[in-house]
Amino acid sequence: MSEGGAKLWGGRFTEATDAFVERFTASIGFDQRLARHDIAGSRAHATMLAEQGVLTAEERDAILAGLGEIEAAIEAGSFPWAVELEDVHMNIEARLTERIGAAGKKLHTGRSRNDQVATDIRLWLRDAIDALDVELVRLCEGLLAQAEANADTIMPGFTHLQTAQPVTLGHHFLAWFEMLLRDRSRLQDCRKRLNACPLGAAALAGTTFPINRERTAALLGFDRVVENSLDAVSDRDFAMEFTAWASITMVHLSRFSEELILWASAQFAFIDLPDRFCTGSSIMPQKKNPDVPELVRGKSGRVVGHLMALLMLMKGQPLAYNKDNQEDKEPLFDCVDTLSDCLRAFADMVPALVPRVAALREAAISGFATATDLADYLVRAGLPFRDAHEVVGRAVAHAVTAECDLAELSLETLQGFSDRIGEDVYAVLTVEGSVAARDHFGATAPSQVRAAVARGRERLAQGLL
Ligand code: ARG
Repeated sequence: MSEGGAKLWGGRFTEATDAFVERFTASIGFDQRLARHDIAGSRAHATMLAEQGVLTAEERDAILAGLGEIEAAIEAGSFPWAVELEDVHMNIEARLTERIGAAGKKLHTGRSRNDQVATDIRLWLRDAIDALDVELVRLCEGLLAQAEANADTIMPGFTHLQTAQPVTLGHHFLAWFEMLLRDRSRLQDCRKRLNACPLGAAALAGTTFPINRERTAALLGFDRVVENSLDAVSDRDFAMEFTAWASITMVHLSRFSEELILWASAQFAFIDLPDRFCTGSSIMPQKKNPDVPELVRGKSGRVVGHLMALLMLMKGQPLAYNKDNQEDKEPLFDCVDTLSDCLRAFADMVPALVPRVAALREAAISGFATATDLADYLVRAGLPFRDAHEVVGRAVAHAVTAECDLAELSLETLQGFSDRIGEDVYAVLTVEGSVAARDHFGATAPSQVRAAVARGRERLAQGLL
């Protein structure tokens, strides 16, 4: 055979593929990552074909044995991947025929690379999702542990990045937990929809052989078969959905990163990031940089970029399969790798965060965080809320000029703003009193945080939202 003449599809061609075109159209450089799942798909297909009488038992056994040897060679790193064979599917099939002869050529009966690759990616992504879920759960557990440990730790809560009201750090950690728990639920939703088997769709229209699609699907652990053969080979909405999940999760991690970066700064000094998650500067000896959260924040950009790539990849494609779809793999692989690293980094880092409890409390005290509590106090004393707001606004302005906190103003001074203020006002002006008073479902009181942590553990264990 001439160079390039060994193509599995070479029958109707009269000249060899241009060397550049061969390289340009090949996907073997990246799709060899699908090898294990490609072999799993072939095993199921061969098993089903034999059950249906399309292959003999001997042919099936030869195929299964050959695939086993190929799998071992791939795992050992000794498989001779060849760019002339274009992709993972044809590399494995050609090798199989080389090893077992005629039976190898029958494996592709009733199948096309179009339903084959659609099956491989779904199988591969399903495993990737299961591995990502483990890291996601580990991160959620770390957040619950920090929430529990910091149920009583007081910090300023912010709106507009200005001190708003005191909250507990545990409550803040629980906010992150909720976001990531929703991300987990979205990931599981994506898994449910992708877990359907395209095999049997063949090139686009189905096959003339008496196949059993349900059987192949069951052998591969799919919940069902993809109903429509044109849809089965062409759509990649599961990949778009996964990358959308990845983008949302990365945006959550990016926001989380941003807070950790701020909090670790000398200006905030809310937390210490352990040294093992930081690096130094080659010029400034004093520096300890929060590289891990910074990189996670940065990597959110590439993941959102991959989502855009997949959306644009699909948008102009007519039914059914087009070679465009070969471009689905690299963005998808990189999303999985990036999410895997970022979730792991956070799952390792979160339990190791060390809150600076005194500095957090000090920050809550210094920003008039209990002004709303004073207003609420006046409302309870009979003043309409808008009037109370006005009174407290004047008291805050006074404290700003006097450079002190509301709790440091004398009773006399406070009564100058409203005669409804009594001795008991100081109880609501403390940050402890402020958080304890927000004592209902979903609020920041330490008792509520503890209850939410207990519920959180339950929800996580049961896979609930
Ligand atoms: N490497 C191809 C892909 O990733 C496999 C399917 C090729 N099918 C075809 N008809 N050329 O999409």
